[in-house]
Amino acid sequence: MEYKLKVSPSILAADYGRLADAAVAAEKGGADSLHVDYMDGHYVPNMSFGIDLIPALKKRVSFPLNAHLMISNTEERLPDFMRVRPDYIVIQEDTVEDLLAVLGKIRAAGIKPGFAINPARPLKSVIPALFHIDYLLILGVNPGFGGQSFMEETLTKMVEAHDFRVKNGLGYDIAVDGGVNENTAKKIVATGANVLVAGTAVYGKGEIDPARVRASIERFLALG
Ligand code: DX5
Ligand code: ZN
Repeated sequence: MEYKLKVSPSILAADYGRLADAAVAAEKGGADSLHVDYMDGHYVPNMSFGIDLIPALKKRVSFPLNAHLMISNTEERLPDFMRVRPDYIVIQEDTVEDLLAVLGKIRAAGIKPGFAINPARPLKSVIPALFHIDYLLILGVNPGFGGQSFMEETLTKMVEAHDFRVKNGLGYDIAVDGGVNENTAKKIVATGANVLVAGTAVYGKGEIDPARVRASIERFLALG
């Protein structure tokens, strides 16, 4: 199986006054999807967007939208997220009691399921669920904020997750989120992980600059 290198800019780092423009810049700049972080101020200290950002963005872009839920009450809010139909719903695996059941509900709604795993959690705790996902999100930082430094010790988990999918003929993407920049991306791609989620590295600070967004995406893709 081939695991194509893809880039998924994280809109958390974009200018909040121009979110749709940031999404358009990512799509036109060659990104494969857009990463939309949901933070509830409880599971993580930070708060981000409302659910209705998804339909608002859908009016302007047609590439896949990936909702990364960093919320405590995943199961309670899941119907709301399913209603706005992001292409992917990626939950935090440690927020649900029955991970397989929740992934099954997402798939039954016609949405691609995935889960995120925090730096301190070993892959072995979630092995059975790897057979039921389209997207594994390995966090390179403790979730909550953009602009943090990548934790190198998470690289081993990427190697394990890649070996596992190859051995078992599984097609899930391995995405890495948090602290992805041009330096860390080289090491990440070398593990076999194939989706680079990057906020600060793509959007930088200040005004949305489509040329900068495109150049950053192209530099990441050149690592493939
Ligand atoms: C971290 C979020 C990330 C964040 C990454 O809690 O899940 O998606 O936007 O930001 P950077 O790329 O700036 O580390
Ligand atoms: Zn994220």
